[in-house]
Amino acid sequence: MGWRTMRIRWKRQRLKQIIMAEEKKLFKVTIDNITIEVEPGTSILQAARRIGGDVAPPAMCYYTRLKGSGGKCRTCLVEVAAGSTADPRPMPKLVASCRTNVMDGMVVKNITSERVIDARNGVVEFLLINHPLDCPICDQAGECSLQDLSYEHGKEGTRYEFKRRTFEKHDLGPYIQLHMTRCILCYRCVFVADQLTERREHGVLDRGDQSEIATFIQKSLDHDFIGNIIDVCPVGALTDKTFRFKNRVWFLKPVDAHRDCNHPKCKGNVTLWYRGEEVFRVTARKDQWGEVEDWICNECRFEKKKTSDWVIEGPTKVSRHSVISQGHYVGVSQPQEVLYEVLDGRKPRLLMDIHSVSEMNRPEIDLSKIEGPAHSTDFEPHEPRGTTGVEAGNPWDTDKLEK
Ligand code: SF4
Ligand code: FES
Repeated sequence: MGWRTMRIRWKRQRLKQIIMAEEKKLFKVTIDNITIEVEPGTSILQAARRIGGDVAPPAMCYYTRLKGSGGKCRTCLVEVAAGSTADPRPMPKLVASCRTNVMDGMVVKNITSERVIDARNGVVEFLLINHPLDCPICDQAGECSLQDLSYEHGKEGTRYEFKRRTFEKHDLGPYIQLHMTRCILCYRCVFVADQLTERREHGVLDRGDQSEIATFIQKSLDHDFIGNIIDVCPVGALTDKTFRFKNRVWFLKPVDAHRDCNHPKCKGNVTLWYRGEEVFRVTARKDQWGEVEDWICNECRFEKKKTSDWVIEGPTKVSRHSVISQGHYVGVSQPQEVLYEVLDGRKPRLLMDIHSVSEMNRPEIDLSKIEGPAHSTDFEPHEPRGTTGVEAGNPWDTDKLEK
């Protein structure tokens, strides 16, 4: 065999080895009877998300873009029915899928395991021990992970007999309010403060049922990116003060938009939440798992609330499980107008514009510009904000209305 042939053979062999090594790099994992291949180092949660749908466990504390997140809430527990091909013994306890990496040949059960469903019911019961059921007045309602989880796993009653812990609301700077009573101590906001603002602005103080998110002597969080803690909070503990009590999310239409933001770290890609012509709030864009795609700065979030500030891209693709998709308006086929047919092709004339005849309905009021929550007094024709209904007289007395 000549030198040249030997060299070609050696090269072929080497190529085969490289290909085999490349192939080896992938681990086979079976989750709820569906098998996929993933890179070593992938967590069970991420592998399940690749399959998608109900196979992906819920996650209240894990956040892909926040280093060190996960392992706190236990909602993502799964059963490992076989550890790996090399050691196929089942793991004795349920494991947190966000913190456990896949092994080659691992078999995982999520929704196909009764143990998991039972444990998840228990975790939700624990999370709801202190969390108030104030969804009807909470700004997070409709996009709250705990609300979704409670519908699926919650019980109608509670077995808890002790006093629930409650806290005073804190203002974290001019734009954010912390309602600690709703906090589930997932630590996501702490990681945002640590990792985005490059200095620790707040953290969890004390332990056990005394634990609370605190800013140390109510220190203001005035960093350009701190508004992102609102987006990562899975419940309504951190809310946008410019949006609090202004509207329900399912009445708003999310629209993707962008602007040339001057901040070097902000791409200016956002979701605008409209009602009519008015922008009620601005949030970062989220992916199908409810996680922020690009962090946005406070200027984009809190100070740019006019359509003219933005380049509109189009309606946001709303994930199907969200309550917001109930008012889904992309690709809607309008019912056929039958009046034309009934009237032999004649168009019905507009009889009246409700805004022009209703003296109570005041379209000139921009809800998003009212300081704090909107009250009925904001709509009373004569009386300034803060006067009671009694002092203001009968708001329905049309003789008193301004003409
Ligand atoms: S305030 Fe929200 S994000 Fe922060 S720890 Fe509590 S629940 Fe998590
Ligand atoms: S998401 Fe895994 S423990 Fe919270």
